[in-house]
Amino acid sequence: MISYSGLDEAGLTRLAGRLAGAVASGGVIHLAGPLGSGKTTFARALLGALGVRTRIKSPTYSLIESYDLGALGALHLDLYRIAAAEEVEWLGLRDYAGGRWLWLIEWPERAPEAIPAPDLIVRLAHAGDARDVALVATTALGRQWLEQSGFIETRQAGTVS
Ligand SMILES: Nc1ncnc2c1ncn2[C@@H]1O[C@H](COP(=O)(O)OP(=O)(O)OP(=O)(O)O)[C@@H](O)[C@H]1O
Ligand SMILES: [Mg+2]
Repeated sequence: MISYSGLDEAGLTRLAGRLAGAVASGGVIHLAGPLGSGKTTFARALLGALGVRTRIKSPTYSLIESYDLGALGALHLDLYRIAAAEEVEWLGLRDYAGGRWLWLIEWPERAPEAIPAPDLIVRLAHAGDARDVALVATTALGRQWLEQSGFIETRQAGTVS
């Protein structure tokens, strides 16, 4: 786990932007943290760094927004308004199986069984006026992202840890 304390908005934006090169082949990022902790800010910064030039709306009401980035498609979800996993059914997430999708999911804990499991969890917390951020890789792909974007050192072949 990588953690940063007391990041201002510019710092959080830079941190999200650093991941862009690594995640461009697709995967799943869960954005966890209380109301107003910076989940949408992180998603916007990452999508912007990936090349989204249109306005990036918070999916608070639409629940899902998608972006076409050529070879990569990005899906930005906000499940805050979901009360039960069954309510995610009508989003038709199965249609996005296969292909190269990058998932950015706010409030994943609302319907964990209805969404893809994370490769990386971004945990955000209020820290006064700033934010604490933790990056937790939960798969080999997530770990690779953190290595490629320089957050953690590349594990040497033969190293046991
Ligand atoms: N690192 C930061 N330091 C200070 N303020 C920040 C930081 N990141 C975001 N903010 C501000 O916090 C507010 C809430 O941010 P944001 O909408 O990204 O949170 P959220 O976690 O997506 O909220 P919600 O749970 O409602 O979806 C915004 O006004 C944003 O500008
Ligand atoms: Mg949000």
